[in-house]
Amino acid sequence: MAGRVLVTGGAGFIGSHTIYHLLKAGYSCTVVDNLCNSSQKSLDRVRSIMEDEGVKEVDLDLMEVDMCDSKALETVFEKYGAGGFTCCIHFAGLKAVGESMQVPLLYYQNNLGSTLNLLELMDKYDCRRIVFSSSATVYGAATTMPITEDTPTGAGITNAYGRTKYMIEGILGDFHKSKVKTEKPWSVVILRYFNPVGAHPSGKIGENPNGPPNNLMPYVSQVAVGRREFLTVFGNDYDTPDGTGVRDYIHVMDLAEGHLSAIEHMATKATDQYKVFNLGTGNGYSVLDMVKAMEKASGKEIKYKIGERRPGDIATCYADAKAAKEDMGWEAKLGLEEMCRDLWAWQSSNPNGFE
Ligand SMILES: NC(=O)c1ccc[n+]([C@@H]2O[C@H](COP(=O)([O-])OP(=O)(O)OC[C@H]3O[C@@H](n4cnc5c(N)ncnc54)[C@H](O)[C@@H]3O)[C@@H](O)[C@H]2O)c1
Repeated sequence: MAGRVLVTGGAGFIGSHTIYHLLKAGYSCTVVDNLCNSSQKSLDRVRSIMEDEGVKEVDLDLMEVDMCDSKALETVFEKYGAGGFTCCIHFAGLKAVGESMQVPLLYYQNNLGSTLNLLELMDKYDCRRIVFSSSATVYGAATTMPITEDTPTGAGITNAYGRTKYMIEGILGDFHKSKVKTEKPWSVVILRYFNPVGAHPSGKIGENPNGPPNNLMPYVSQVAVGRREFLTVFGNDYDTPDGTGVRDYIHVMDLAEGHLSAIEHMATKATDQYKVFNLGTGNGYSVLDMVKAMEKASGKEIKYKIGERRPGDIATCYADAKAAKEDMGWEAKLGLEEMCRDLWAWQSSNPNGFE
């Protein structure tokens, strides 16, 4: 299936890597992004990677639009007309957990408001397939590992960001149900990401956080490159092999490829269904495992200090990703070494991100 894919938030970290895979597979892409946490340079770099790979012409259109502005968003649909998009991959959203507790209304307005506008317009312009970027955060304080898609969600979510993901899943569920057995049924795939890390192996695109990174690996790589002095490890007294928190890190190239599997799954097997998949590797690594792996990849010492536990953090979290393999034929292929190698390729050649 090729065609035009509407990619919201496509200039961001995961979006830009997904666009690379989409273009490679022959899709045309329209990106809607207000660039509030990204740069259009990421898309220029995707074009340059494609050129390096011998593809001179790609169909990649960026429309700089705030999705909370419904009228502005409609111009995107008007440009391509009814049926102009085969499907939508919806990455756009604010994602900083800590910030979401300082300005929760902004998070609810932005993440929910943009999604509601998007769904209304998709329905109006006959685009009825959507893949949504959700997060393992929706599992809240789940303690039984590995986490399957049937693990209860909602309870124990400790921040507004996570609640927006949980609420949007609910909105998509209700909306999908309202369309079942109508002439125009919808197909919805929810992807719950575990911890995306790494970069395209060229080092040309990668994660480009504004200000101090919220996630472990961008922080670790900024220490390795000398941008920050040391890492603070939040707690070393968890019930894990070395006392530090264990998470399921997944290479962003694998994660991005999962979106391709999802849109192909929607077009063939799940044309009118609502499906949820974990995207993870099923392996857990501790903070110190990650620090050691990054030291090896970069050849640099990564200084760290042990700090207090962060409220809301759990000891261990990793996915059962069998459903994605069985249903969509997707599984993560890349390991810890590749994650750190590619993250270092990006960080060392772009110490200040895209600037
Ligand atoms: N990176 C992670 O660790 C992680 C984990 C789980 C889920 N997710 C989710 O995956 C999605 C993509 O994450 P990412 O890491 O690529 O984040 P990112 O910040 O790099 O990308 C999100 C993009 O959305 C855009 N955006 C935000 N609000 C918008 C609006 N109102 N209108 C138009 N564009 C808007 C931003 O400018 C940015 O380019 C997000 O929804 C995020 O919550 C990310």
